[in-house]
Amino acid sequence: MAKVKKAYFCSKCGFEAPKWLGRCPSCGEWNTFTEEIISRGSNSAADIAADMPQTMPQRVSEIQQEKVRRLDMCNSEVNRVLGGGLVPGSLVLLGGEPGIGKSTLSLQLALSSHGLKTLYVSGEESAEQIGMRAERLGIENEECYIYSETLLENILLQIKQHQPDIVVIDSIQTIYTESIDSSAGSVSQIRECAAMLLKYAKTTGTSIFIIGHITKDGAIAGPKILEHIVDVVLQFEGDGNSVNRILRGIKNRFGATYEIGVFEMIDKGLRAVENPSEILLSHYDEPLSGIAVGASVDGIRPYLIEVQALVSNAVYGTPQRNATGFDARRMSMLLAVLEKRVGMKLFQKDVFLNFAGGFKVADPGLDLSVVSAVISSYFDRPVAQGVCCAGEIGLSGEVRPAPRTEQRVAEAARLGFKRIIVSGFLRKGLKKPKGIEVVFINNLGELPRAIFCEEI
Ligand code: TYD
Ligand code: MG
Repeated sequence: MAKVKKAYFCSKCGFEAPKWLGRCPSCGEWNTFTEEIISRGSNSAADIAADMPQTMPQRVSEIQQEKVRRLDMCNSEVNRVLGGGLVPGSLVLLGGEPGIGKSTLSLQLALSSHGLKTLYVSGEESAEQIGMRAERLGIENEECYIYSETLLENILLQIKQHQPDIVVIDSIQTIYTESIDSSAGSVSQIRECAAMLLKYAKTTGTSIFIIGHITKDGAIAGPKILEHIVDVVLQFEGDGNSVNRILRGIKNRFGATYEIGVFEMIDKGLRAVENPSEILLSHYDEPLSGIAVGASVDGIRPYLIEVQALVSNAVYGTPQRNATGFDARRMSMLLAVLEKRVGMKLFQKDVFLNFAGGFKVADPGLDLSVVSAVISSYFDRPVAQGVCCAGEIGLSGEVRPAPRTEQRVAEAARLGFKRIIVSGFLRKGLKKPKGIEVVFINNLGELPRAIFCEEI
């Protein structure tokens, strides 16, 4: 009989220890160690992997010649995030909260990859359920196979038989290998299954998408260990109450990670949004106070987003400061600067801030638009129509240039904005685009006149 081996794993980072520890020496978390039985019998992962095709050392010049090929996923947003398409033989981890649309996105990719043979393996849903979903998506593909199974050995057998170009594993937490005794979803199972899939992907050139659930604090698939193993980590984000989703590259061995993909969840699955500003700007019949538009960039992609602020008299002693989609501490800083440098009395005011479409933004270039929305709500006066801003605010109230301001200005002009307010530091260097007036301001005191289009 195979010898039973026990080990303790940190459920946060996957650190392995021979005995229980109160605090993980690797990630520093307390009470994260769980006992798992790892019995490495005769049918260990190494034995199973032994009958897989083996690779040989190659000259670097020879490898580079074949590497240029990328598979077209037939989805502009996913291709963009992957850096121009999927590299054959890559292992891609797709993480996201439950219900965000990971299964929908991956099934859609499996169905729409025309000319490629795809296999969608689900350990969560039955083949009928997936069939129903595929019908709903309305994409026909004869070369897409569905397989409902949780045992990795069976899955690998089917993959070897069918030889697909792309495999989707939904999800890594539900599949298990017989070579380890611990239950599916445990750290050792996830690690072993991912390692076996990685070996298969690398030796055969099959691309594998692994879906991973996200923990409450936002880490992909609990154990960080998966992120080290895979080539690409994609995170699917969005607010559960809104239909907008962002696909973000967190790690990419074959491209940059600054690209984002924007999707909208509709009744027929996920629609690629090639022009994100279209969903982030609302159209009002009459101007409203408390709304400002900021020109932002996420990675290298410019888009315009609407900020809403509400400034009202505080009922309780301590005023409330609430920000959705924006760092609350940054908002407090901006309010303090407004109070000190512009003389607005905000200490007795509740301030609420909201970004359109449930977007989370971390772009300091949106400071000016946040402050504009607050000023507009404070004076109960709408920002002049066709005005947007892009700039960072410093502690002394100076307006600093936002990164990639030129791109932001160009995007605002493309969307028909009439005036954009940017930092005065850019007065000399900025190329003047057609059709938009660029207003330069040096400090926050000049902002109210600029947004209300008064003489400066
Ligand atoms: P799902 O892909 O199952 O999420 P995950 O795999 O990340 O847990 O997505 C489920 C949600 O998507 C569900 O709440 C319904 C919604 N949905 C649509 O709105 N339209 C569609 O066409 C599909 C297939 C799902
Ligand atoms: Mg799912």
